[in-house]
Amino acid sequence: MAEIRFQDVQKRFKDVAVVRDLNLTIEDKEFFTFVGPSGCGKSTILNLLAGLEAVSAGTVFFDGENVNALPPGDRDVAMVFQSYALYPHMRVYDNLAFPLKVKKVAADDIRRKVQRVAAVLGLEPLLRRLPRELSGGQRQRVALGRALIRRPRVFLMDEPLSNLDARLRIEMRAELKELHQRFPATTVYVTHDQEEAMALSDRIAVLHEGRIEQCGPPGEIYAQPATLFVAGFVGSPPMNVIDGSLLPHIHCFESGIGTENHGNVVAGVRPADVEVVSRRETGTLQAEVLLVEPTGNDTWIDGLWRGIKVKGRAAPGETLMPGNLGFFKIPADSLHLFDERSGRRVR
Ligand SMILES: Nc1ncnc2c1ncn2[C@@H]1O[C@H](COP(=O)(O)OP(=O)(O)O)[C@@H](O)[C@H]1O
Ligand SMILES: [Mg+2]
Repeated sequence: MAEIRFQDVQKRFKDVAVVRDLNLTIEDKEFFTFVGPSGCGKSTILNLLAGLEAVSAGTVFFDGENVNALPPGDRDVAMVFQSYALYPHMRVYDNLAFPLKVKKVAADDIRRKVQRVAAVLGLEPLLRRLPRELSGGQRQRVALGRALIRRPRVFLMDEPLSNLDARLRIEMRAELKELHQRFPATTVYVTHDQEEAMALSDRIAVLHEGRIEQCGPPGEIYAQPATLFVAGFVGSPPMNVIDGSLLPHIHCFESGIGTENHGNVVAGVRPADVEVVSRRETGTLQAEVLLVEPTGNDTWIDGLWRGIKVKGRAAPGETLMPGNLGFFKIPADSLHLFDERSGRRVR
């Protein structure tokens, strides 16, 4: 059982504020992810939770208990890192058993627990091997097993899948999620990969320069990005950004919500919401096709419209070629509007 609460948490290194105004409650058993670009403060937040760094101001609570002064060893957290940090000279069995041996758990008990964790993670055939005899994915599974075996009250995971190749990363991502469904425990996960964050998490906090830009369930963050930063960071391919001065030229926009002065807004529309057809249709943007990118499921089309690049998705059955004219359909209800100055969502 563990609920985590940050209250007015700040972290500075010398004069540099790395985590600012962090106020947040992570629920018991929740899979919570901090996502953001490199350097935004993700690892620092995990280190504050683990007790590896001290807060500069504010308080961290575990189940209502102030843990600011609690040393790492007394926090009952398990951390999984990007680099697996297995003991190279120990077999898988002993790597798994190690945290229990440290706690002086009885030998019988250790054997039982290692067997159980090995079964859950499919490590049984590998127990006699040394880390160097394992693939990257297998090593990461052992690192996970070593975290799981102690049944800590909080799991902290810092980009644990980043070192795996793309296919394995997606496999392990599903395994992690399944594991959390079977054995729910409070998990604080960190990644720079927004797709991974979306796929895994109950809730996500999007971090930008040490501050939470938005916090919510993945679907909400995707559908209603609170800021231009979030809009640009979440979703792939990234959202098209269209200057407000061009809005009157978007037919659907004019007919949809009127023609007041929109010079101070920026509009966003996801490429997935923009359908591109090769035949003229009223209410579409007419653009010269610059680039055609088939990805299997979707074919992305870049078009040049009034000097800006707009990305959309080829309608089923359409074949478009660079140099053709493409007609980009922007549905009125797929437009996101942001204040140009503050970057905050207007609509
Ligand atoms: N021990 C430290 N001393 C000084 N600066 C640090 C230290 N740890 C991290 N930083 C700085 O804090 C910022 C956030 O780092 P970090 O939390 O590692 O980001 P992320 O994990 O999101 O990539 C970076 O600018 C980094 O250089
Ligand atoms: Mg980091």
